[in-house]
Amino acid sequence: MNAQFVSNEVLTPEQQALVLAHPSRLGDSTQAVHGGRSENPYHSITEPLVSTATYTFENTQAVNEYMRHKLWGEPLERSEYGRYGNPTITAAEARLAALEGAEEAILFASGMQAISTLLLGLLSSGDHLIITENLYRKTRQLCLSTLPRYGIECSVVPLNDAHALRTAIRPNTRLLFSESPTNPHNRLLDLEQFVEIARQHHLLTVVDATFATPFNLRPIEWGVDLVVHSATKYLAGHNDLLAGVVAGRRELLAGLREFQGTVGAITDAYIAALLIRGLKTLGLRIQRHNENAQRIAEYLAAHPAVERVWYPTLPSHPDYAIGKRQYRGFGGVVSFTVKGDGQSAARVLDALQIPLLAVSLGGTESLVSQPAVISYYELSRQERLALGIEDNLIRYSVGIEDAEDLIADLEQALRHV
Ligand SMILES: Cc1ncc(COP(=O)(O)O)c(C=O)c1O
Repeated sequence: MNAQFVSNEVLTPEQQALVLAHPSRLGDSTQAVHGGRSENPYHSITEPLVSTATYTFENTQAVNEYMRHKLWGEPLERSEYGRYGNPTITAAEARLAALEGAEEAILFASGMQAISTLLLGLLSSGDHLIITENLYRKTRQLCLSTLPRYGIECSVVPLNDAHALRTAIRPNTRLLFSESPTNPHNRLLDLEQFVEIARQHHLLTVVDATFATPFNLRPIEWGVDLVVHSATKYLAGHNDLLAGVVAGRRELLAGLREFQGTVGAITDAYIAALLIRGLKTLGLRIQRHNENAQRIAEYLAAHPAVERVWYPTLPSHPDYAIGKRQYRGFGGVVSFTVKGDGQSAARVLDALQIPLLAVSLGGTESLVSQPAVISYYELSRQERLALGIEDNLIRYSVGIEDAEDLIADLEQALRHV
């Protein structure tokens, strides 16, 4: 590790060349601050925020030259129109690719836009995909309700069930999609097994690693083809923007970028600049989220008013062993059931003083929600229970506040069970 890079944001040309030439030699926090960085015309430390719909050309010869490069698929240093490229967005994409250890990344306006553009861009009518259970609810809905309208079939298999996965593969299966850790139970994908089965059958693998972040897991290192994130969560980290990202090999992303330009699934430069700013502190934030969540999970597991805690460092978690083998940490979400019913959980939520009552996760401020009455409200109770969403389940997205304060707050709130 080149320690001098960690605290010094201004790089010498030699250091910059090192960052660009050997991204894998640098530590995660260095990548978060410098990864993919390139010089800009203003020599500004911050990436210039280029807010423009279109770009000018000097003359028609310059237009012809640019279009010739574009038609030949050669690297382009500029763009002709905002839907096809923007320097601030390109800078954010380079940083995200460096963090994931990917060749390239594409930024989108939300996590769901990233996932839907990816699946619609890579799959065609007549294709089949397999998803694992416990996916983020809207991803599951996209795969089971929306994609079939375009002739794309989908099967669901239990997480880490190798037999079920092998049995679900058909001649027209093209892609396996999973998520890890899952929302809200923190179930962990066994990446080794997932990739091995996919390779045996020549299938593309995609993992939504929103809950993990590249600090806790880099699926590409395990052989996964494409990683997606809701960058709205930890990557941006301040509950102030929506964004999504897909990262992976250049040859896989080339067609997707083309599709993005066609359907207009883009974000804007201001969001990209805010995201870059958020990414710089990702390492510090994740370290704190991991530590705070660990302490809160242990506290809750020992509390008499708590029925069950879902955090992968607890030996009671079903994927504890996988977590030990394959993951570096588990992020800030701790889900738990309280003794009693939905009303008991609601009383605890209303009594909590520090976390804010809101959906979403991964930001600096702690957030709490009761999935049964917000994220899963339109499902019947039976359907919710089939997904493990019990009435008395609380999802606590632990922020970066002082753990002692959060625990003292939980102590008083749990008296209301
Ligand atoms: C695991 C996961 N993936 C994807 C999404 C969707 O992201 P976005 O809200 O940015 O569209 C979410 C949102 O909660 C999520 O938790």
